[in-house]
Amino acid sequence: MADGAQVCKAWGRQEILSLFDPDTGLLDRRVHSDEALYQLELERIFARGWNFMCHDSQIPEPGDYFINYIGEDQVIVVRDQEGQVNVLVNSCRHRGNALCRAEQGRAKSFVCSYHGWNYGLDGTLIGVPGQSTYYHGALDKSRLGLHKAAKVESHLGFWFATMDPQAPSLHDYLGHVGRTGLGMICAHGDVEVVDGIQKNVIDCNWKIAVDNLFDWYHVMYSHASAGSSGYIDLAGILHPKEQLVMLDNYGHAISGPGVPAAAQAGIDQMSDEARAALSRETEGLQLRPRAATELMGPVGVRSHGHPNLFPNLWITISGLQVCLRLPRGPSKTELWWFTIVPKGAPPPLRAAMVRTATHLFGPAGLLEQDDGENWSQTTRAARGVTGRTLGQFLEMGLGQDEARRSEAGEHYIDTQINEHGQRWFYRGWRDWMAAESWAELTASLPPLPEGRL
Ligand code: FES
Ligand SMILES: [Fe+2]
Repeated sequence: MADGAQVCKAWGRQEILSLFDPDTGLLDRRVHSDEALYQLELERIFARGWNFMCHDSQIPEPGDYFINYIGEDQVIVVRDQEGQVNVLVNSCRHRGNALCRAEQGRAKSFVCSYHGWNYGLDGTLIGVPGQSTYYHGALDKSRLGLHKAAKVESHLGFWFATMDPQAPSLHDYLGHVGRTGLGMICAHGDVEVVDGIQKNVIDCNWKIAVDNLFDWYHVMYSHASAGSSGYIDLAGILHPKEQLVMLDNYGHAISGPGVPAAAQAGIDQMSDEARAALSRETEGLQLRPRAATELMGPVGVRSHGHPNLFPNLWITISGLQVCLRLPRGPSKTELWWFTIVPKGAPPPLRAAMVRTATHLFGPAGLLEQDDGENWSQTTRAARGVTGRTLGQFLEMGLGQDEARRSEAGEHYIDTQINEHGQRWFYRGWRDWMAAESWAELTASLPPLPEGRL
């Protein structure tokens, strides 16, 4: 059945809440196929939430811009002459034409290719052909500036924007988990994004591409070919019994390998030199320096898993890449891969890191070719009249684990391979979708878990 051909219906609050049951892990598969739910996601999740835009290193100078999306709204992220970062909807206020067509660049202003209206870097309408003749000098330019995001803020050089003026500050929105995730990228020092974002489209629902990043159950099986080819050492990265999950408000989560608390206590005693020496000797994960604990928190620093900043920013293990899962309809997702390297890295190191990133994920990545097949077939099956009634069963680890709260306020679970992250993500999704405003969303947030879950 083609997209949009399904019966669209208005989804009421109770119906939305019934789409996922956190007590059993039962997920209604219409969340991966329904057109009306998709439209609601664009309003209630993407336009309302904080969306990752770009990194400081991509727009260092006045006039530098980068094109990104808030849901399906294309936006220009641009640094103006005062150094301020603006997020402008890339749609001319005359007839709506897209102003900026390049993906990235430097501009003095933005001129529309249709009738020539010209906008400043802060979105102000500064020039209109025929203003005094055809418009008789009567056009009020001051009301026709480009539409701006309601809030634009950054953390550790990573810029985010929201269309909703009621949104909390970015700092509060990110919480421990979001700040740990961004801290993971910067744990070894300042970073920069490599020019050239790798982009590809997979025929899958965006949420399947998100929930998979918490899924360490599929790795040994789905990626067996990558393992047997010798390209990656699955046994070296899996640590199925040493998993650390962190959960936070608004649906943010981290899941994946974690350093056991006792081992971290030993690492905490080591100097930075000793950590670096041990990392070289073992050729394993690089031990993070002392300063990383400040950025990531005492539990966060133990994580070598995958953070997802709700809704759709995945930070890959060790922070070498981040990926946006951009929605393009209920059955299509555009993936944008950003490669991140240490600031000023020597060319050989930079080249080696880019090569690793390119071969792991993204359109040429060995791992995502395996994953994409599973995601698109799972999405296709959710469109069937029968298939969409069958449910997904996300119950691994349910009732088996203990959630704890650190003195720093982090909520975490030391466990084995599990589906806590997926459940937390769909629980968050359900709350976002059922709430009509930020006030309602904030009031409906479940308490962060402590004890058996
Ligand atoms: S649509 Fe842009 S100037 Fe007319
Ligand atoms: Fe995978």
